[in-house]
Amino acid sequence: MTNRTFAIIKPDAVKNNNTGLIFDHILKAGFNVLSARLIKMTLAQAEGFYGVHAERPFFGELTEFMSSGQCMVLALEKDNAVPAWRETIGATNPEEAAEGTIRRLFATSIGENAVHGSDSDENAQKEIAFFFPDTELIANN
Ligand code: CMP
Repeated sequence: MTNRTFAIIKPDAVKNNNTGLIFDHILKAGFNVLSARLIKMTLAQAEGFYGVHAERPFFGELTEFMSSGQCMVLALEKDNAVPAWRETIGATNPEEAAEGTIRRLFATSIGENAVHGSDSDENAQKEIAFFFPDTELIANN
């Protein structure tokens, strides 16, 4: 079944000029890109997006980092998009990420880990809606 997931190419990856290489991974892994936009989040936007982590000790570090520079937000489509994208990016901690995954290749630490991926279909819908109006989601067929 074709599903959607939400991805972010995070500020560390954009700063290190890895946006294009990561975009290439996305396409080669068979995802359709429904929309993509380069943005700089405000701190309030980062706090809203990561609200589920508000009580975690790393919340301040996470939201400051995510609002520190440009990032690319993407709405992706593929069969079983959520688990497929999580497999493509690898474990949150790059030291635990499998060989060949995006985080293994491009992440430097658990905080600056190159990319984000939704953890469920329900959250994917919410996260896509946080950044993209329906009218900007364009199927390429
Ligand atoms: P992401 O997939 O964007 O979802 C939540 C983020 O919190 C996660 O990637 C990590 O970048 C970050 N995170 C998780 N655990 C830690 C931690 N222990 N210290 C700093 N950041 C963390």
